[in-house]
Amino acid sequence: MDSDLDLYLSTRGCDSDWQLSLKHYGCLGKASFLIVNLHYNHRMEMPSLLNDRYQLQETLGTGGMAVVYKAKDLMLERNVAVKVLREDFSKDPSFRERFRQEARAAANLSHPNIVTVHDFGLDQRHLFIVMEFMPGTDLKTLTKQKEQFQVHEALELMIQACGGIGYAHRAGLVHCDVKPHNMLTTPPEGRLKVTDFGIARALSTISPDERSEVVWGSPHYFSPEQASGRPPSPASDVYSLGIILYEMLTGGRLPFVAADSAELARMHREETPVAPRYYNPNIPRAGRDHYESSLEGAFSALSHRGSAGGASAAGII
Ligand SMILES: Nc1ncnc2c1ncn2[C@@H]1O[C@H](COP(=O)(O)OP(=O)(O)O)[C@@H](O)[C@H]1O
Ligand SMILES: [Mg+2]
Repeated sequence: MDSDLDLYLSTRGCDSDWQLSLKHYGCLGKASFLIVNLHYNHRMEMPSLLNDRYQLQETLGTGGMAVVYKAKDLMLERNVAVKVLREDFSKDPSFRERFRQEARAAANLSHPNIVTVHDFGLDQRHLFIVMEFMPGTDLKTLTKQKEQFQVHEALELMIQACGGIGYAHRAGLVHCDVKPHNMLTTPPEGRLKVTDFGIARALSTISPDERSEVVWGSPHYFSPEQASGRPPSPASDVYSLGIILYEMLTGGRLPFVAADSAELARMHREETPVAPRYYNPNIPRAGRDHYESSLEGAFSALSHRGSAGGASAAGII
């Protein structure tokens, strides 16, 4: 391929749009650089009021399986965030029951580093979860904005994430989808809260052919056992925390990047990542103070021994 190529394809279904764009960024030796972007957008006809109580105001974000709205709780007169699941999940009765159980377990978690779940409901075809509204931004966006965190800044955030996830582990709940998109931060105070406990576990009950890549997609943060399709344990969450810390301290690099999720899964199982200190010499060696040993604890989860062993987020802090 010797000329720049741009391709854009779009399909419009009854309740969703797909857009595929492809850009050729030129050649270096025999290597050709292609950026392929596949975007899925699910349209929902949303009522503006759910269960006569939650007035939807604006969209806060869209993930693979849900849309999150800022809303007003008319009963208690406060702002909340309402996560409305895609209709194809909401209509499956066994998923609805599983989701209710997971929401109930998450609602019992009360910790300063966990987003509080207030309510759960079904209005006509819309299955939704009501939670504390977090002003600010998610950690993925923050990582992209900041480019690189100072070691102490990254550790302050990571200690909060471990506080919330360690508490959930002690309560018998594994998160299963630890990724920076599920860490909500409120700058400038630097408060971090973890969200979406148990939702991934509920989703795992849906048969694989009903799940698309986009829906079941955090493969960059999956532990080796999750990548192999085995059940996650508290140690799986710790492995994913290690990946988040790696990303924060290396200017947004991920330890494993591959063209498809099968190759990514193989890398998680078999490969050892480039040491983060190679990209960021400011990362100290372990053993000198509390911060440095907590850093080493999180990174050791990125070795396969760490994830297969009995690590818990509480053990890092
Ligand atoms: N409780 C909340 N308060 C404020 N914003 C939120 C809240 N929960 C989610 N969001 C926003 O909605 C976005 C989409 O969330 P979600 O559907 O869980 O997808 P994902 O976790 O894959 O980004 C998040 O990235 C975040 O910006
Ligand atoms: Mg989320």
